[in-house]
Amino acid sequence: MTKVRWAMVGTSGFALDWLARGIKLGSNAELVAIVSRDAERGKAAAQKVDAPHVFTSIEAIDKNLVDGVFLCLPNPQHAPFAIAAAQRGLHVIC
Ligand SMILES: NC(=O)c1ccc[n+]([C@@H]2O[C@H](COP(=O)([O-])OP(=O)(O)OC[C@H]3O[C@@H](n4cnc5c(N)ncnc54)[C@H](OP(=O)(O)O)[C@@H]3O)[C@@H](O)[C@H]2O)c1
Repeated sequence: MTKVRWAMVGTSGFALDWLARGIKLGSNAELVAIVSRDAERGKAAAQKVDAPHVFTSIEAIDKNLVDGVFLCLPNPQHAPFAIAAAQRGLHVIC
């Protein structure tokens, strides 16, 4: 089965301890990246959830590596991040 390659956007405990774990348990999904505004925070988060890649914005995501973004952001950020991801042709879960 082809797996959807997700990037988790946001580094909160909810994102890493709950949502990332859920993605990793899925048989049709894999967590391949963390997106954080801060590269060091993103790196630490990626190590915590064993994600191989880190990006610092939606625009920086390598589409050869990622199929979709899972947005775990403050509510006012949902629309701008979702629109930016959709404009890049990425799937979006908010
Ligand atoms: N917390 C829960 O238990 C819980 C439960 C159910 C649903 N939710 C929902 O999940 C969503 C996220 O909640 P959360 O508790 O994870 O939020 P949060 O603690 O505020 O985390 C927001 C994350 O968004 C990133 N971010 C990107 N742009 C930001 C900006 N302009 N300002 C602040 N943070 C920004 C931050 O990561 P970087 O700084 O690394 O970029 C941060 O880790 C919300 O829609 C909330 O309703 C949360």
